[in-house]
Amino acid sequence: MLKNNLYIGVDLGTSAVKLLLVDGEGTIKNSISKEYPLSFPHPGWSEQEPLDWWKACTEGIRELLTGFDASLVAGIGCGGQMHGLVSLDDKDQVIRPAILWNDGRTADEVVYLNETIGKDKLSAYTANIAFAGFTAPKILWMKKHEPDNFARISKIMLPKDYINYRLTGVHACDYSDASGMLLLDVQHKEWSEEMLKICDVRRDQLPRLFESYEVIGTVKKEVAGELGIPENVRVIAGAGDNAAAAIGTGTVGDGDCNISLGTSGTIFISSDTFGVDSFNALHSFAHANGKYHLMGCMLSAASCNKWFCDEILQTKDYAGEQKDITDDKLGRNNVFFLPYLMGERSPINDTDARGTFTGLTMDATRENLVQAVLEGVSFAIRDSFEVAKALGISIEKSKLCGGGAKSPLWRKIMANVLNIPLEIPQAEEGPGYGGAMLAMVGCGAYASVQDCADALVKTAKVIQPDPELSARYEAQYRKFQKIYPAMKALFQEIK
Ligand code: XUL
Repeated sequence: MLKNNLYIGVDLGTSAVKLLLVDGEGTIKNSISKEYPLSFPHPGWSEQEPLDWWKACTEGIRELLTGFDASLVAGIGCGGQMHGLVSLDDKDQVIRPAILWNDGRTADEVVYLNETIGKDKLSAYTANIAFAGFTAPKILWMKKHEPDNFARISKIMLPKDYINYRLTGVHACDYSDASGMLLLDVQHKEWSEEMLKICDVRRDQLPRLFESYEVIGTVKKEVAGELGIPENVRVIAGAGDNAAAAIGTGTVGDGDCNISLGTSGTIFISSDTFGVDSFNALHSFAHANGKYHLMGCMLSAASCNKWFCDEILQTKDYAGEQKDITDDKLGRNNVFFLPYLMGERSPINDTDARGTFTGLTMDATRENLVQAVLEGVSFAIRDSFEVAKALGISIEKSKLCGGGAKSPLWRKIMANVLNIPLEIPQAEEGPGYGGAMLAMVGCGAYASVQDCADALVKTAKVIQPDPELSARYEAQYRKFQKIYPAMKALFQEIK
């Protein structure tokens, strides 16, 4: 019976919300995407209006259900962009636009946390050090630069939790997303008293914590009416988008790996046990299956290709731009691209890093540059992959998901740059599908996240690396690795 029900999976992304209607057997019945604006009020800043997310979600859910029996909807699960600071006053009004995960304004606060408080202490309190996109430095920024706004904060929440709050009235967060606030003691899954003191945050301003598959409440009566769904629809805590994508691609076993090529690019390594990256380059976060993971996150991945095609080449025909990049050209490009269009998080943690094309000659073609962009992002993912290797983690294969994974060329480049097979899941919609799966578990359709993944996640295709091409890419990667260190000092000057 529960498997005949319908579940709504929400992927609250940076450019759009993607909504999926999925039945209990995992079949996607419908999908809707609704875009919203992203603003860059200063270079390196990145903001969005929480009310735009809510509007897109409510309109989208109504559209998603058109033509379906909405009385069968049993649960809603949301995977959302991580780290964003959403602040509400005591009347539940949004105080200021949300400061997003790829916002670099907190360089000073990051230095304060990492140098004055100290990386050792932060790591002991939270399992992580400070990165500009994390929530805690943003809270300190608001305290310093917007003291009036800071004084009005009654509730602090992450982007997907704003949606869950509007749906249920419950101020909740799951452990995977809470991990990215730098306020959570990740190992023990509780707020860190030390970090609360450092950031001048009170416990009553923070959400109640849940496992991702736990039910936080049911949809409020007036909201159910607005959405055309039953009042008893359960809302589960959900997850940060990367943990949700890992669930959606079945990355739940110890050592399983998922790479996501979305606006950000991430490498996500699932782990049954808690562990910290001694190099402080990979994040140590809770997973949505109740366990843990390590993750490297680059701030601009598929967004580099989108920027280059949309803004520079003035085209939306991404496949057309890639069609003449034939196999013989791979691993032989003399043009290199640094993908640091929003600064970079993993592994270099440098808000001042910038994008570059290097190696241009008079005969460089449009194609060479398009290829360089795809390669530069793949090399930067390899940087985090190398950190994992240095920690003794052996990654023999990985799943690949996200918008960039739709490109056969990019899949091939990535498999050969990493020299591992890449599995492309049947349901490419990682976070939304993972959100729907977590809702199924929360509603009792499956006994555990693992059971649900075993039953629903199927691999559509495997991209095998080619030994000759991987060897060429190995040599190219060695060159790529030298570019950022050579530019680093200059980036400080041109910021
Ligand atoms: C992860 C991160 C990004 C966002 C993108 O740490 O910042 O992947 O979650 O939505």
